[in-house]
Amino acid sequence: MLKFEFSKYMDKFINKDDYSKLMNKKIEVLEKFNQEKMTGWYKQEVSGNLLMKIKEESIKIRNNSDVLLVVGIGGSYMGSYALQQLLCPSLKKDKTEVIYIGTNLSGTYLNEVLDYISDKDFSVNIISKSGSTLEIKLTYELIKDFLERKYSKEEAHKRIIVTTNETSGYLKEEIDKYGYTSFDMPDEIGGRYSIITPAHLLPMAVMNLDIDSFLEGYYEGKKYLNEAYCYAVIRNLMYKYGKLLENYSVYEPKMYYYTEFLKQLFGESEGKDGKGIFPISTVNTRDLHSLGQFLQEGSKIVFETVLKINMKDDLVFNNNSFNRLNDIVLSSVMDAHYDGDVPNLIIEIEKNDEKSIGEATMFFMLSASFSAYLFDVNPFNQPGVEKYKNIMNQRIDI
Ligand code: PA5
Repeated sequence: MLKFEFSKYMDKFINKDDYSKLMNKKIEVLEKFNQEKMTGWYKQEVSGNLLMKIKEESIKIRNNSDVLLVVGIGGSYMGSYALQQLLCPSLKKDKTEVIYIGTNLSGTYLNEVLDYISDKDFSVNIISKSGSTLEIKLTYELIKDFLERKYSKEEAHKRIIVTTNETSGYLKEEIDKYGYTSFDMPDEIGGRYSIITPAHLLPMAVMNLDIDSFLEGYYEGKKYLNEAYCYAVIRNLMYKYGKLLENYSVYEPKMYYYTEFLKQLFGESEGKDGKGIFPISTVNTRDLHSLGQFLQEGSKIVFETVLKINMKDDLVFNNNSFNRLNDIVLSSVMDAHYDGDVPNLIIEIEKNDEKSIGEATMFFMLSASFSAYLFDVNPFNQPGVEKYKNIMNQRIDI
């Protein structure tokens, strides 16, 4: 279950007529959304056969590997990584560790990873919808070479699983050449909306996360369509009133990468044609001792969305519950920010479990799409990202 508090810390900042005007655009926005072909993430459900294949593959990987390397970037990695950080233990290692690479071109980091896995059994899941993103191609070649030197070629090729589109691209050619186990990324689902595709479900299954519960929550999240529209409207008004930055504020450090996921989702969906809100995040109480100063008293260009999550585990010491103390800090900061003319919204996630995060994820994806439509831009393209990729591809030949 999700809970929303959109008015308590907001009303004094919002003009009722402006709000009604945008609320009246809802039918028009929904019509656009319903006609859009890139909404497979909303219109389709994952088939039982695909779920079975994902689970079988995850069991195989867990049985033969100490490590699964996940190679992906942007929408092809951020979702499952955020869920790993939020839902898996922070320090205790699982029997099969899931380690992410391909998100940078740091030789230092790659060297450390290669060194770490050199005496371990490992498999690799290469994920790229286009199948031709440079960072992924390069990392794939590196790891394939490493695998082939560690195992026989035949065994190495059994340990490579590729998730890409069904028809074209470099990775598709590699699947055809080497007979890798492969998973498809549907045409109607773009990178940052791909959380219910094998790009994320396979790594999540290897992490032993309950993907059935996640999907159950995700589909149920459709019931928050009205709230998702309302959130999009408030964001749009904030922008019109000069709040160019949205700060996702969390009090649970395990939520940090979920805010990174939201930053990508909203930033890449609506930051176009010289418009859009720049998403940032703070992790409290840490950042209360640094950026908290700016938020309270600096330039009034920021509004805040506080993501409150009820953590299952608590620590009670000297009769004090840490979770309760954290909640007191949260409400104190909200009051202080409100007094300092910083508009605040709260979205509360019932629990740190797969089902609740599934619901929240559907809510945010709906809202990001509606938000982009209110800015009159296409939520599902990323021409700016393609631009750098094209220039880089001309300069780097691999
Ligand atoms: O949301 C998006 O579409 C992007 O962030 C892509 O996911 C990212 O650029 C990676 O692309 P690909 O999966 O084609 O390698």
